[in-house]
Amino acid sequence: MPHIVSVPKKWRKQRKSLNGTVGFVPTMGNLHDGHLDLVQRALAENDFVLVSIFVNPTQFNQASDYEAYARTFAEDCAKLDALDGAENRVYVLNPTEEDIYPDDYALKITETEDAEALEGKFRPGHFTGMLTVVMKLLNIAAADRAYFGEKDFQQLLLVRKMTEAFFVDTEIIPCPTRREESGLAMSSRNNRLSAEEKAQAAQLYALLSDFSLTDAEVVKKLEKAGFKPEYVETKWGRRLAAVWLGDVRLIDNIPAECGTEEEKHAAVS
Ligand code: PAJ
Repeated sequence: MPHIVSVPKKWRKQRKSLNGTVGFVPTMGNLHDGHLDLVQRALAENDFVLVSIFVNPTQFNQASDYEAYARTFAEDCAKLDALDGAENRVYVLNPTEEDIYPDDYALKITETEDAEALEGKFRPGHFTGMLTVVMKLLNIAAADRAYFGEKDFQQLLLVRKMTEAFFVDTEIIPCPTRREESGLAMSSRNNRLSAEEKAQAAQLYALLSDFSLTDAEVVKKLEKAGFKPEYVETKWGRRLAAVWLGDVRLIDNIPAECGTEEEKHAAVS
């Protein structure tokens, strides 16, 4: 099993005793193959890997979403353990709310240029909660590299901006979105979709990928297909969307111009 270091202090001590580079993968747990891609990449590029599993209360907009968030710690550890090359190289940090917020969330990091667009418009306070926890986790991890998914593109962009602005000495590595065969981007929230909804959800990727349609036309088609779209917008060289399907909120994004996902990924790396 991976080494469990529940308390940040314990990791800091452990980190000092490790002879080699550390890759860090922050998560909220309920791990799927998208998360595991990040860990596998971190294993390939570093001597040791730290995975944090912390469901961060300050980045949720609805208490019900926070409570419904699946907590599957034992299964998560088993998945990490089964990865190629994981033996004796993977550490899991699972701090408590008190560990992370000794200040009771009195200190916060707010970005004022890009955080209010798209996700920020529909999820007030979300990015402040996310940036604040990521800064704390990066400081605890003291890693050489940290791995973030392009699935949450605005998050990745803001984390990059933050680490540059605050001179954080950890390289931020973007990783491509892992999808189901249907095209549906993997997400912990997909578990809350029925089989029928899951099939329907695949249309989000199909419509986003249809560049014969304008963003506004994609919105109309999504509505017709039974989604409640919040936005479809082209920005930062991507086409990004957020939609509701029943009571589950899905986000996705793809490169805005033509070209394969690999080519576009290389362009933002
Ligand atoms: P979480 O949603 O658990 O995601 C953890 C990391 O996995 C993020 O970098 C996310 O972009 C990446 N990820 C999720 N689904 C992916 C997929 N289908 N393909 C590739 N990467 C994927 O994002 C968070 O947690 C939190 O905001 C966090 C950064 C941990 C701060 O609380």
